[in-house]
Amino acid sequence: MGNASLRAADGNKDDEFYTGYEDIKKELVNYAKYFKGKIIYCNCDDHNGIGLGTPKSNFLKYLADNFEAFQIKKVIATHYEKDKDHSTMYILDKDNTGDGVICFEDIAEIPMKGDGDFRSPECIELLKQADIVITNPPFSLFREYVAQLMEYKKKFLIIGNDNCRTYKEIFPLIKENKFWCGLNHVKQFCKPDGSVQNFGNVSWYTNLENSRRNEIISTGKKFYGYENMYPHYDNYDAINVDKVSDIPMDYDGVMGVPITFMDKYNPEQFEIIDGLNRYTILDVAKVNDWAKANHIHLTEINGKSKYLRILIKRKS
Ligand SMILES: C[S@@+](CC[C@H](N)C(=O)[O-])C[C@H]1O[C@@H](n2cnc3c(N)ncnc32)[C@H](O)[C@@H]1O
Repeated sequence: MGNASLRAADGNKDDEFYTGYEDIKKELVNYAKYFKGKIIYCNCDDHNGIGLGTPKSNFLKYLADNFEAFQIKKVIATHYEKDKDHSTMYILDKDNTGDGVICFEDIAEIPMKGDGDFRSPECIELLKQADIVITNPPFSLFREYVAQLMEYKKKFLIIGNDNCRTYKEIFPLIKENKFWCGLNHVKQFCKPDGSVQNFGNVSWYTNLENSRRNEIISTGKKFYGYENMYPHYDNYDAINVDKVSDIPMDYDGVMGVPITFMDKYNPEQFEIIDGLNRYTILDVAKVNDWAKANHIHLTEINGKSKYLRILIKRKS
C-alpha cells in the first residue's frame, strides 16, 4: 500500500491525511526544550472536528495540551479553505476560560481575510512572526512548502514522504545540512471519513538538532578482507553498499549507500558527497537530459542498474 498510496496522493492531489496524536507526541516530545518562549505556527491545520470530538489537527491539540509544560509563548494555526473566500485562524496564547491554565478550550477563533493558503500574504505575515513551524503539509505541495520555509529561514518539524530525499530541490538541502530526518517514521494517517490509511515511507523532517545527529553509526563491518561484498560501480569511482548495516567502518573512499542512510546520518561522522540514481538527483548536476538521452544509469554494476544511492565518505 505504502508507495502506491503516496503516488496517488501526489497524482490526485489528495492531501487529506490527518496525523495521529500519538505520532505527534512521539516526535515532538524530543524537541520540547526548543519550544520554550517560542511562537509555534501550524500552517496546514484546522482544529474543527472531523466527528465525535476528534480534532482535524492533532498538532493543535497536542500543543495545547502541553502549552504550559513546554512553556510555549503562542500557538497559531491556519488552514486552507478550498471552496471558501475566508478561512479561520486559531490562536492559543491566553487563559480565555479563566481557570488559570492555558489549554485546548482556550483556543480563540479569528476570521481571516483570505482562504488560508500557506503561500498567501496573510499567512506569510504569520510565518514571519513565528519561531518554529510544525505540521504535516500537503504532500502535493511539499517542494514549494519547504522552499518557503527556507526563504523565511524558519525552524521546522514537518512530515513528508521518504522520496522527498531524492527531489532535486530537497537533496541539496540535506547535503548542506539545512534539512535532516527526525526520529520517527509515521505509518498511519486518518482520512476525512474516519478510515485509516497505511504508509510505508513517511517520516519526520526537521532542522532542529536531535539525538540521532550525534549517534555514531557502528556496523562492525570491514571492507579490507571482504572486498567481494562491495563491488565498484562500472561508471563512477565508488563502492556499492546495499544496506546501511553493511557500511564498512575501515573504508575511506566514496561509498554509494541507500537513501535510508539519511535516517541515521551523523554529519560529524560522514559527509554526503552527492547522489547517484536513475535520473532524479542527476538534476543537481544538470546532466539529467544527457543521462536520459544516453540511457545511462550511473549506479550500474556489471551493466545492471542499482537503485538510488547516496554517495558518502567517512570524515577523518
Ligand atoms: C497531509 S494533510 C495534514 C493535515 C494536518 N496538518 C494533520 O497533520 O493532521 C495536509 C493539509 O494541508 C491542506 N492544504 C492543501 N493545500 C494547502 C495550502 N495551499 N495551504 C494550506 N494548507 C493546504 C490540506 O487541505 C490538508 O488538510
